[in-house]
Amino acid sequence: MKKCTYFDYAATTPVDPTVLQTMLPYFSDEFGNPSSIHRWGQRAEAALEKARVICAKFLNITPENVVFTSGGTESDNLALRGSALFQRKAVGADEVLITHVEHPAISHTARQLEAEFGFKLRFLPVNKYGMVDPSDVKKLISSKTALVSIIYGNNEVGTVNPIAEIGIICREMDIPFHSDAVQAAAHIPMDMVRDNLTMLSIGAHKMYGPKGVGLLGINVSKGLIPAQTGGGQEFNLRAGTQNIPLIVGMSKAFELSQTEIGNRNKNLICLRDQLIAGVLDRIPDSFLTGHPEIRLPNHASFVFSSVDGNRLLMYLDSQGFACSSGSACKVGSPKPSNVLTSMGIKPELAIGSLRVTIGKETTEDQINDLTMAIESSVRLLRK
Ligand SMILES: Cc1ncc(COP(=O)(O)O)c(C=O)c1O
Repeated sequence: MKKCTYFDYAATTPVDPTVLQTMLPYFSDEFGNPSSIHRWGQRAEAALEKARVICAKFLNITPENVVFTSGGTESDNLALRGSALFQRKAVGADEVLITHVEHPAISHTARQLEAEFGFKLRFLPVNKYGMVDPSDVKKLISSKTALVSIIYGNNEVGTVNPIAEIGIICREMDIPFHSDAVQAAAHIPMDMVRDNLTMLSIGAHKMYGPKGVGLLGINVSKGLIPAQTGGGQEFNLRAGTQNIPLIVGMSKAFELSQTEIGNRNKNLICLRDQLIAGVLDRIPDSFLTGHPEIRLPNHASFVFSSVDGNRLLMYLDSQGFACSSGSACKVGSPKPSNVLTSMGIKPELAIGSLRVTIGKETTEDQINDLTMAIESSVRLLRK
């Protein structure tokens, strides 16, 4: 089989061997249900609470404010629906404030709040880098706002938002502020107090942890209507027997990524910038999308004029390079990404998008090979 190099770490990451080792006992010997009274249950509960303490520490919140979920999507759903419904009941607020550059876990949930629950959806503008200006939050926020949700590090274009600054505005207005940090948590030191956040979503599989597990961190909760009802697990906010192996794996992955951030990022930023410079230098009519500096350390994204992004992905795949378009567009339905068009990129240019996301295993040689492959593929496609 032809050698293939993975450049899609924003889609998912392999499980770190240390993380896997930490999880294994909880699939077999330590299989107990943390709600059981007996010793199997007690040991499972101890593992659960240890994982909660670790995650809380790296979010700078207390352990009883960590709610384990099945992933980033569920955390986003709980934050948005849970908070919007609660706030409307508590104070009559019925507006939800988001941006056009959110992941579908946020934007589709917000659309559902509008269509099915009668909320008014309001959008914050973004600049050409996909970044929110805090002064726009000031303009649009009001006592009618049930919550504000703004993506931390963008999955398509890598731009990192001024979350702490926006958090101050929301705090002054006493409005819940949520951020989707599913991409950011692997690369940026998290601190919900520093960032003035009410809620923060994380998923483990973007940080060398397992799929199917995430968390919602809550700081100074105003209250949430639970997304899932049943037993009283997760402080009555997320019913269902906790998945101990996955939760233990997530806490290890989060701990490793937060403690190794400095070293990992140094390498990632160097390789990312080498790729960006190589692509922009070698390929005419190629453009970086997202902010040139205030972006995720592992994230490079481009648009190429007169290129179909889906075909580019297929060309690259056939040469052994696994990349992404960065958007949800499917082969056969080449619609430009909403995120790119909302940043002012013309649809015909947005069609030619490419997202390259690197990981701790990526090497300089791989970056050089990929740069050449992108150059030759774009040239071929333009013919
Ligand atoms: C920014 C962002 N939010 C949410 C999600 C969904 O996370 P999960 O796959 O854990 O449900 C993703 C996954 O791609 C993401 O990139």
